[in-house]
Amino acid sequence: MLKGKHIILGITGSIAAYKSAVLCRLLVSAGAEVKVVMTPLAKQFITPLTMATLSKNPILVDFFNPENGEWNSHVSLGEWADCYLIAPATANTMAKMASGVADNLLLTTYLSARCKVAIAPAMDLDMYRHASTQRNMTQLRADGVHIIEPQSGELASGLVGKGRMAEPQDIVREVEAMFDEKKKSLQGKHFLVTAGATIEPIDPVRFISNHSSGKMGYAVAEALAQRGAKVSLVSGRTALGVPVGVERIDVLSAEQMYEACCRLWAEVDGAIMCAAVADYTPAVVADQKIKKGEDDMSIALKRTHDIAATLGENKGSRLLVGFAMETENEMANAESKLQRKNMDFIVLNSLRQEGAGFRGDTNVVSLIDSESRVDLPLMSKREVADRIVDKMESVLVEKN
Ligand code: PMT
Repeated sequence: MLKGKHIILGITGSIAAYKSAVLCRLLVSAGAEVKVVMTPLAKQFITPLTMATLSKNPILVDFFNPENGEWNSHVSLGEWADCYLIAPATANTMAKMASGVADNLLLTTYLSARCKVAIAPAMDLDMYRHASTQRNMTQLRADGVHIIEPQSGELASGLVGKGRMAEPQDIVREVEAMFDEKKKSLQGKHFLVTAGATIEPIDPVRFISNHSSGKMGYAVAEALAQRGAKVSLVSGRTALGVPVGVERIDVLSAEQMYEACCRLWAEVDGAIMCAAVADYTPAVVADQKIKKGEDDMSIALKRTHDIAATLGENKGSRLLVGFAMETENEMANAESKLQRKNMDFIVLNSLRQEGAGFRGDTNVVSLIDSESRVDLPLMSKREVADRIVDKMESVLVEKN
């Protein structure tokens, strides 16, 4: 996708600039020609020599070369580029971009660029969530800048939260997607995806849960986002990072997942219910740790809401895709869920199939609707996600 593409890599003064070296290398390996523009402060974080070596081009920092007066033309740079990627983009640079300040070569190049522009913000969590940063991001989006969402995690300050620059491979994937127009087939659509396991507390120490890692649901969320859809991922407990371009809403219990999904249902064009949701939850949650006694004990359980069935009751023209995790009578159980929950199609996976189901990176699924069944071979969860999204696209076409 990036072969022969001209990419300007803009680097600003952030500790995340160390990742720009890997990013540059990945872009060059993907066949792109890369020219690097740095702000003066960026040179304090990564050396021009490193970036010149990796990009195979001299680094541009100043408006002219003080040695010989040679002019670094931001206008011709802007004309040369197919994409201007600023990674990392600091809060300061984003503010200047949003208001048209042009006090360094990186910014004048931005104002001259006629190409696609993407930025990968990097900053501390409080700076990121500050109203002025959020306002600048809104402005930049309105100006057509593609924002590669920062990730949550440990930040250079030692604090934990959102603000860490996206990983280089994820940034490359987003840049590739920007060039792949046909993959933007779901632009303008908004989907709800559920993923992971719910946690039903018994007491402050113990809970009931299941083996879902979230991998299948996260793969679906990523596949949808890569085709341009807005994705709200309602996620139970997982150890996974948020896929690029996806908004994650963290929940723990089935009740919390139910509330989040019902809230979002009014806004979305459809939902893909991949989470393994508890069907029962303790009727009473003990305030204190339950002490063991001599006798056996039992815990009274009550039913949780069936989230998919609730959405299905009020489906309208929306798309509803479910999963069925079975251990016996697979087809019959899946077909019954398809009908009972008013789904457009259901994705059946069985624990009897090797390579299918919980935790692994692969799955073996059948896509079942009221008229047909397609059995897919063993493939990665990411490939399965693409096949699910392909089918969603055909159903959407039929619905319109
Ligand atoms: O997360 P991984 O480790 O990658 O594993 C993936 C997976 C096995 C969890 C996934 O592929 C899968 O099968 N998810 C659905 C698991 C499940 O709970 O299936 P079910 O047959 O019990 O439920 C049927 C459908 O109703 C599902 O879409 C489920 O999300 C939904 N449901 C179930 C119960 C409930 N209370 N509310 C629901 O919405």
